[in-house]
Amino acid sequence: MIIEPKTRGFICLTSHPKGCEQNVLNQINYVKERPVKNGPKKVLVIGASTGFGLASRITAAYGSKAATIGAFFEKSPSEGRPASPGWYNSAAFEAQAHKDGLYAKSINGDAFSNEIKVQTIDLIKADLGEIDLLIYSLASPVRTHPDTGERFKSVLKPIGNTFTDNTVDFHTGEVKEISISPCTEDDIKNTVNVMGGEDWQMWIDQLKSAGVLSKDFKTVAYSYIGPSLTEAVYRKGTIGRAKDHLEATAFKITDALKDIDGKAYVSVNKALVTQASSAIPVIPLYISLLYKVMKEQGIHEGCIEQIERLFNARLYAENLEVDEAGRIRIDDWEMREDVQTKVLELWKQATTKNLPEIGDLKGYETDFYNLFGFKVQGVDYDKDVNEMVSIPSLQ
Ligand code: NAI
Ligand code: NA
Repeated sequence: MIIEPKTRGFICLTSHPKGCEQNVLNQINYVKERPVKNGPKKVLVIGASTGFGLASRITAAYGSKAATIGAFFEKSPSEGRPASPGWYNSAAFEAQAHKDGLYAKSINGDAFSNEIKVQTIDLIKADLGEIDLLIYSLASPVRTHPDTGERFKSVLKPIGNTFTDNTVDFHTGEVKEISISPCTEDDIKNTVNVMGGEDWQMWIDQLKSAGVLSKDFKTVAYSYIGPSLTEAVYRKGTIGRAKDHLEATAFKITDALKDIDGKAYVSVNKALVTQASSAIPVIPLYISLLYKVMKEQGIHEGCIEQIERLFNARLYAENLEVDEAGRIRIDDWEMREDVQTKVLELWKQATTKNLPEIGDLKGYETDFYNLFGFKVQGVDYDKDVNEMVSIPSLQ
């Protein structure tokens, strides 16, 4: 079929297998030239199909020849209906990894559930024996608690006061004011339940009990801080509480891993266009200004550049630098004072009329379409493609 983008607000209902494949191959090629010395060998990535998790899987596999198991929650294709992009990404990754002689298998289902944890542990036992790295890169709006069956929904709201500021609808380019009313106590609790550290800890507990964590095992989860501009909706809002919880969980996990000299880290990453971040109000305007400034300074990075730097300059470097709160920082370039001063200056001026010039609205839009395999260079979108692509290990 011929597949075209069908957008609805900040989501796209279709995705293109060839474009997704090209994105994956581009990331593989980037990492191949930047090997990771003393990198991981047997890796589990949770949230491995898109964004930072996909980049982590690719960096482990192609930076250090690691065997990878990728867990994710994606929609398979049906006749005339394309799969979700993470499905096509994973299909392309596995196919290429297998060609290159790398072990790669996938697990598709709700990673919050006990069932998927058991299935993953069984696969590790059968094929790898143990893992030396677990990357936790889940981003989800909902979580069903595995023990109680209770379903939690996360929200993106400020705490305490109504927040009013500008945002942009990147489809139309319109810069307009939005107001978000403050959350309830329950909203905080629910968001922490979905995006906090409880599930990460459950994974580690169960993997450890099963005896599948190697000595010197490492685990990393991803967090975000960002500037004061976005603080009310992000770091000091409901999602920020979840990230506080996630960061605190790293210390608890490290304690629980003492006997195997294991370590849990949180890495604070840069703001990037992903399916998860495009849903957050105000962030799209911030990102389009940030991209402009960082590209001008030659320090712009996407997911693969960020994660390759995480592995090479932090996680597997001789000295692992962390901040005063014990966090790994690869948002260092985003947070540079000169970058933030410039972004803030532009923020104050931004209007519908001038944003295409003072901001990188085009870059934002291209990145958004790229997430779904559209507007990718070198892909012929007039050509018929087979939407019924399968993931080799899931056949
Ligand atoms: P994403 O939306 O690209 O990836 C989410 C992944 O989680 C996908 O692989 C998806 O299949 C998987 N997933 C979702 N629900 C699942 C479930 N129930 N079971 C199994 N898998 C499930 O998101 P992104 O942006 O890569 O986010 C990953 C982490 O990075 C999140 O913790 C996010 O907060 C963090 N982060 C994101 C930043 C950004 O600007 N995008 C910046 C800094 C941190
Ligand atoms: Na991810």
